[in-house]
Amino acid sequence: MASPDILDLPEKVRENLEKAGWVSSNSILMSSDHELRKLGNLTKEECELVRTRAAQSVLASGFISVTEAVCSLKEKWQRLSVGCSKLDRFLRGGVGVQGITEIAGESGSGKTQLCLQMALTVQYPVTYGGLSGGAVYICTEDAFPSRRLQELFCCFPPTFSEAQTNMNFGDSIFIEHIGDVESLKQCLLVRLPQLLTQRKVKLVVVDSIAGLFRSDYDPGDAVNRAKDLQVVGGQLHKLAEQFHLAVICVNQVTNVAGKKNNETQQQPVAALGLAWANMVTTRLQLCRTAHTVPDPHQPDHTVCVRTLQVVFAPNLPSDSCHFIVTKAGVFGIN
Ligand SMILES: Nc1ncnc2c1ncn2[C@@H]1O[C@H](COP(=O)(O)OP(=O)(O)O)[C@@H](O)[C@H]1O
Ligand SMILES: [Mg+2]
Repeated sequence: MASPDILDLPEKVRENLEKAGWVSSNSILMSSDHELRKLGNLTKEECELVRTRAAQSVLASGFISVTEAVCSLKEKWQRLSVGCSKLDRFLRGGVGVQGITEIAGESGSGKTQLCLQMALTVQYPVTYGGLSGGAVYICTEDAFPSRRLQELFCCFPPTFSEAQTNMNFGDSIFIEHIGDVESLKQCLLVRLPQLLTQRKVKLVVVDSIAGLFRSDYDPGDAVNRAKDLQVVGGQLHKLAEQFHLAVICVNQVTNVAGKKNNETQQQPVAALGLAWANMVTTRLQLCRTAHTVPDPHQPDHTVCVRTLQVVFAPNLPSDSCHFIVTKAGVFGIN
């Protein structure tokens, strides 16, 4: 991805592009003429020239070296640590930077805790399991849990303390509160791509996707809902691919009758049906169990044992493991 400063462009045009935050040929090609002209303060002719030069720079490289190919593959298959070595091992390194990872589960199962933890780990260097970038946290149900995040700052996670020393985590977490589907589409299609071209963001969390799509439609409006889910899912895939970021969508669950041990039982299944399931690359489901264990941080207290289940994933078998949520975060247990 060539940056505007090496494109063969007049000085003034280059300056305008940089001022408006275009940092790569790809981001120029992703922008509309209207955006280029308005935000970049360019004439119609300048706009055409910018596009031509950006396209030439993208197409210029016919051959790539083996080292380049390996690097680009490595980037494509990077994984983001969830902040606990046991859970990372279970997830073969953490959450992928390809496609959409969904975290589904009933209320209180630990979805938000896991996402908050990743908003911290994403800021660590790659050698520590992070992606050296910031996070965008889109809240649709509850207000962003700033206090809980502050609590995590203080006690999380001892294994990364060396990398932690010079970081101010809060500076690199960008929060957005969204109340309806139209605003979400506007955010993902216009504002988020702009932010991604200006800041190094490596994680986008939508907490939750179900909050909007379960409430904004009449029961007979399934077609429009499916179309909007496709727009939202498609755009998240596009951004993940273009900017090499991890995308996490939190989802609620609905109880569906299913057979277990030859008995019909209610089982929680991720909400939003097939239209959404088809957009999801990896589906993880969290669930509280009836068991408790002593809290490692407060031995006189107990904490609920929860399960993390891989429902489907391109690189993981369907399996499950146990975890707990404590003051210091989410931890896998045996
Ligand atoms: N400060 C805290 N200390 C310990 N456990 C907490 C703390 N805050 C939340 N939890 C635990 O996390 C659970 C809620 O997790 P959360 O991620 O908010 O659920 P949800 O799946 O609804 O997003 C609570 O049930 C509680 O057990
Ligand atoms: Mg939550």
